[in-house]
Amino acid sequence: MTLNNGVVMPQAGLGTFLIPKEHFERTIITAYDMGYRLFDTAWRYHNEADIASALKKHGINRQDVFITTKLHIDSLYRGGYKEGLKKITNIPCRTIEEAVLDSFKNLETDYIDLFLIHFPWPMYTKMWKVLEKFYKEGRIRAIGVSNCLQPHIDALCDVAEVVPAVNQFEISPLNTQEANVQYCHSKGIAPEAMSTFSHHRSPEPRPEIINHPVLMQIGSAHGKSTVQVVLRWMLQRGIIVIPKTWDESKLLENISIFDFTLSPEEMQQISALDQGVFLNYNPYPAQRGLPKKYQAWEGFSDPKNYPAWYFNRPKWMRRLLGQRVFDNEPAPKR
Ligand SMILES: NC(=O)c1ccc[n+]([C@@H]2O[C@H](COP(=O)([O-])OP(=O)(O)OC[C@H]3O[C@@H](n4cnc5c(N)ncnc54)[C@H](OP(=O)(O)O)[C@@H]3O)[C@@H](O)[C@H]2O)c1
Repeated sequence: MTLNNGVVMPQAGLGTFLIPKEHFERTIITAYDMGYRLFDTAWRYHNEADIASALKKHGINRQDVFITTKLHIDSLYRGGYKEGLKKITNIPCRTIEEAVLDSFKNLETDYIDLFLIHFPWPMYTKMWKVLEKFYKEGRIRAIGVSNCLQPHIDALCDVAEVVPAVNQFEISPLNTQEANVQYCHSKGIAPEAMSTFSHHRSPEPRPEIINHPVLMQIGSAHGKSTVQVVLRWMLQRGIIVIPKTWDESKLLENISIFDFTLSPEEMQQISALDQGVFLNYNPYPAQRGLPKKYQAWEGFSDPKNYPAWYFNRPKWMRRLLGQRVFDNEPAPKR
């Protein structure tokens, strides 16, 4: 896929979050041998250095792989960042610039292909300015964001000199994110899917997707698995995919998606499964720091868009934190 600045990025790659240490090197090398060239890591995954060492040990040229990493707010504070009331305990330990350089050091590289801001925290525009500096110096080939909705992108573009090249967020047949995908495309931003198959806080893939009868039926018509059908459905929507696995047969399965095409009817059938619910990374609560006009975005006014845990916080606490309180919100789960 050609990004909005001309950089070419593989449209399918390997996510590396939670690949066990003992399987890490083998997984990277096996994936490379199978044809994977895109590796998605992050400072927060604590495996940037493992990618560098695996590539180095096996004599793989830096130019032969495309590495994405991400800037995390935890990297700026001793013991990690605590939101809201706990902010008194946020003791800075690095500048944003130093945090970016930390990823360079971990990855043992003098350039990074794609650097994302991991989440739209209140200071994400400040982080963006630092990424822009590295980008202009030619040390990062493309910069982007993650977990951003339309208002986060709009607020960023108000202060940005560089339009993000990529937005990585949760997309699956049960959460098609059509509006956000279309919005990204309209701005020239490449959408990238994460956590399509993962189950929140569980190592098992989501059975409601893997065993979905519609996906299984489409898969059997093409001689493909449900996972391959879902990945293909995203490729055909112009989305970059980075499924994570350390199982050899699944690695091969996940990249064997370029030899079949879904018909427009099949594409439509899959898109119709949408329930609009985030399973893992719901970005709707991320409104602090957004200018008022963007907080007024209609998507923020619907309690259905918020995760259940959001309503477990007492209303007084949310008011204090500047978070939204609705008249018609669901009862907290005790
Ligand atoms: N920007 C962010 O905030 C963010 C957040 C989360 C993830 N990410 C990135 O996105 C990548 C992908 O997301 P993710 O790791 O959360 O979830 P994912 O890759 O969508 O799903 C991982 C799950 O799917 C299973 N799986 C993979 N291929 C399969 C296949 N062919 N058949 C059956 N099951 C299969 C894996 O099982 P096994 O592990 O057992 O093989 C695992 O349980 C991450 O690795 C990370 O790089 C970014």
